[in-house]
Amino acid sequence: MSDPVYIKPVMLITGTSKGIGKYLAHYYLNKGYIVIGCSRSACEIENDNYIHIIADISDEVEILNIFKIIRKDYKRLDVLINNAVVNITDISVALLPYKTIEYTFKVNLFAPILLCREAVKLMSRNNFGRIVNMGSMLSKHEIPGTALYSATKSSLITFTRILSKEVYSLGITANVLSPSAIKTELSENVKQDVLMEVLNRNAIKKYGDLIDVSNSIDYLIKEESKSVTGQVIFLGGA
Ligand SMILES: NC(=O)c1ccc[n+]([C@@H]2O[C@H](COP(=O)([O-])OP(=O)(O)OC[C@H]3O[C@@H](n4cnc5c(N)ncnc54)[C@H](OP(=O)(O)O)[C@@H]3O)[C@@H](O)[C@H]2O)c1
Repeated sequence: MSDPVYIKPVMLITGTSKGIGKYLAHYYLNKGYIVIGCSRSACEIENDNYIHIIADISDEVEILNIFKIIRKDYKRLDVLINNAVVNITDISVALLPYKTIEYTFKVNLFAPILLCREAVKLMSRNNFGRIVNMGSMLSKHEIPGTALYSATKSSLITFTRILSKEVYSLGITANVLSPSAIKTELSENVKQDVLMEVLNRNAIKKYGDLIDVSNSIDYLIKEESKSVTGQVIFLGGA
């Protein structure tokens, strides 16, 4: 009798060329996942179970192409982590160009919505799915200069909470994870006095670690976490 075929779980992470997304890709590859990552630029991750798709997720066609590949090559999706982001956090509302507003909303909000839409269709085939949308403590602390970025993240919270109610009967959960400040290119580009002002409003007034992020995602995507949905976890005590 042949051994039962072990099917590796399939995870899609957006924004894996650097920062938190790159860390998560390595972390879940080590845990035995097949990881599909994407970004506009190339990615240096080399692993037989990693597939990188060059894509600009501000474009719906490119998102649909990612799912075409997943459907064709894997026929399943277990976990979606909406991580990619453009960070516009130092600009007064009075100075915001329309193009900047449009692009920021396309990447930070429209894309996660479209990715959730496509993921739900695929996940529902197996009556199982875990969606984690990355939030930000900025949506809670309301710092001047961050209105656009924070608006996209606040909208993502409302979207996720309502999505969770629509998809629960399909075996799918959807939650938001808001990390505290983590050292990445994104946080390096935020003015340090602004960052410290944000951190000083948290229970934990210092940078968080990447492992804080993966530890929380581990919990959210566990099969046993089936009743944890529609929640927003703020790390660092925001
Ligand atoms: N770092 C922090 O302190 C912090 C704190 C709270 C929340 N977060 C959240 O955590 C997540 C990751 O943040 P991070 O610090 O790792 O950011 P990051 O270092 O700036 O990385 C962002 C990733 O998104 C990709 N990306 C950007 N625009 C894209 C597009 N149009 N299409 C495809 N990919 C795109 C980037 O790749 P390319 O440029 O190659 O496209 C990159 O891989 C974000 O959702 C952020 O809001 C971070």
